[in-house]
Amino acid sequence: MISIKNVTKSFTKDKKAVDDLDLEVLDGEIFGFLGPNGAGKTTTLRLINGILRPDNGTIEIDGYDIEKEGIKAKEQIGFVSDNPDQFLNLKGIEYLNFMADIYRVEDRFAKIERLTKRFEINDVLNNALNSYSHGMRQKVILCGALLHEPHNLILDEPMTGLDPKSSFDLKETMRNYADQGKCVFFSTHVLEVAERICDRVGIINKGKLYFVGTIDELKETVHENNSLEQLFLEITGNEQ
Ligand SMILES: Nc1ncnc2c1ncn2[C@@H]1O[C@H](COP(=O)(O)OP(=O)(O)OP(=O)(O)O)[C@@H](O)[C@H]1O
Ligand SMILES: [Mg+2]
Repeated sequence: MISIKNVTKSFTKDKKAVDDLDLEVLDGEIFGFLGPNGAGKTTTLRLINGILRPDNGTIEIDGYDIEKEGIKAKEQIGFVSDNPDQFLNLKGIEYLNFMADIYRVEDRFAKIERLTKRFEINDVLNNALNSYSHGMRQKVILCGALLHEPHNLILDEPMTGLDPKSSFDLKETMRNYADQGKCVFFSTHVLEVAERICDRVGIINKGKLYFVGTIDELKETVHENNSLEQLFLEITGNEQ
């Protein structure tokens, strides 16, 4: 469970990237975080992971404060950032062993084999990450985040660059996680994905949360039977 209370983060004096955000993402749900470019999604996800520190407010992961009990909180998280271009000089297998070391994963051989077969990267693990395509890198990072079977899976635009089969496998993995009582929090620009797999969504714009609820509730908040795309544009102030 992820609990965000009154969190604010500014990078410059005159603008808040995240503005007094209050949000709870519950165990057993897939929560989709929507919003236009620059809305504050990545900043929020980085705050939750302790990569950034909030100016105000608190964030707890399964009851552990990300600032005061950082290690405990981070142990409960698997994070896939929006940029898979990391550790490029490592081989795939070296990266996964590194992640298994950090998170003290037991029975790593079987877990690495199962995950990498699932995402069809098992036969390239002896090559360096810089020889991989964007989607292959994304999959290695994803496998690394799943290795310790975290209670909270946090993903920043995870479907970007994945082929349809991999995207389908990822969505299934996310559903399985939530069905096991775990918490899945991800950002996306793809409204159809949000509509299909999210139990609840949040819409953020200019750092402020404008809506939290189910897709059905979202549709009810706006008059007429608009498409999800029209609703999104209306809420985020870009109505044509
Ligand atoms: N390190 C930084 N330094 C200065 N400003 C930043 C930094 N990171 C983010 N910002 C600003 O914070 C705001 C929110 O950015 P953020 O990356 O969270 O948006 P986003 O919702 O993830 O957008 P996108 O959909 O394009 O990924 C933007 O105005 C951005 O310019
Ligand atoms: Mg982003």
